[in-house]
Amino acid sequence: MGVTNVTEYEAIAKEKLPKMVYDYYASGAEDQWTLEESRNAFSRILFRPRILIDVSKIVMTTTILGFKISMPIMVAPTAMQKMAHPEGEYATARAASSAGTIMTLSSWATSSVEEAASTGPGIRFFQLYVYKDRNVVAQLVRRAERAGFKAIALTVDTPRLGRREADIKNRFTLPPFLTLKNFEGLDLGKMDEANDSGLASYVAGQIDRTLSWKDVQWLQTITKMPILVKGVITAEDTRLAIQAGAAGIIVSNHGARQLDYVPATISALEEVVKAAQGRVPVFLDGGVRRGTDVFKALALGAAGIFIGRPVVLSLAAEGEAGVRKVLQMLRDEFELTMALSGCTSLKEITRDHIVTEWDAPK
Ligand code: FNR
Repeated sequence: MGVTNVTEYEAIAKEKLPKMVYDYYASGAEDQWTLEESRNAFSRILFRPRILIDVSKIVMTTTILGFKISMPIMVAPTAMQKMAHPEGEYATARAASSAGTIMTLSSWATSSVEEAASTGPGIRFFQLYVYKDRNVVAQLVRRAERAGFKAIALTVDTPRLGRREADIKNRFTLPPFLTLKNFEGLDLGKMDEANDSGLASYVAGQIDRTLSWKDVQWLQTITKMPILVKGVITAEDTRLAIQAGAAGIIVSNHGARQLDYVPATISALEEVVKAAQGRVPVFLDGGVRRGTDVFKALALGAAGIFIGRPVVLSLAAEGEAGVRKVLQMLRDEFELTMALSGCTSLKEITRDHIVTEWDAPK
């Protein structure tokens, strides 16, 4: 199939998937203003490329929390991947590993931490949702650590599920032949049908709305894995996260699926980077669809980016091969962007290589 860019997988996935599943993957919260803005904001950042620099050799490798990867492009946690393809998270894990990059497995995966680990070598992070029952959390974190996961991405923007109207209309629920595998043995693996979104009801029943900064510290008492706080978009919370012991920050608005009318993450990134003062690495997810987007995030100070929808939608279209292709296309586009901007390594990408609408004229 002649797919030439990441976005083309949207239409293919839409054709292939049941409406309920496609809508769950693709949509955002309420007016979906933030969802649209997530793309638009990238288009308002322009390049200031440098010329006549030898770009015959370009190095994209980087080190994340001490782990060397092939490029600063990683896989974000997205739930329930077996709705996209029978191989689900297995396919994603294999594709990420063969691309030499990190996969983050969702708490709500349809494959367990042990199953994802069984796919072979690869650097994997585990995304954590904190359940009301802390024994459940402690058990799961222990299992992830034992299965060789290298870090926790603690999602902090979801005390309640955002109002995703497509899911409400479709009465979204996990198909009965699938389970949230990590919770299977705990009797929390099934999702009931509801009059609105089955997932919203599940979250209301199980997820701990009392979660607060002291729990970030508690988490460090039950695991040696470093903790990335996922869902920070302000300087204030950046400082608190670092104080609470975070090993890194993920600037994320959950793919525009939680609070609508928050800024695009690429617009919030610089504020967070400044507040972090280089004490911990800052990552970004949200709306990354092009190699140019990756470059813009790095120019604004991100140590790397994560992609969500491009993975599930390419998985739906072509399984493992689709996810591989998405990672390869982004890699190739990013390399080309570096060459055409006059950068041969990640550290050569600077703030001066871009201009934003909030910059003063030079
Ligand atoms: C998500 N996201 C998410 N985040 C998380 O912490 N745990 C999860 O289980 C999920 N599940 C999930 C499912 C689907 C279908 C989507 C689209 C997103 C959010 C995800 O990790 C990430 O923040 C965004 O997807 C990034 O934006 P893009 O790349 O999808 O634009």
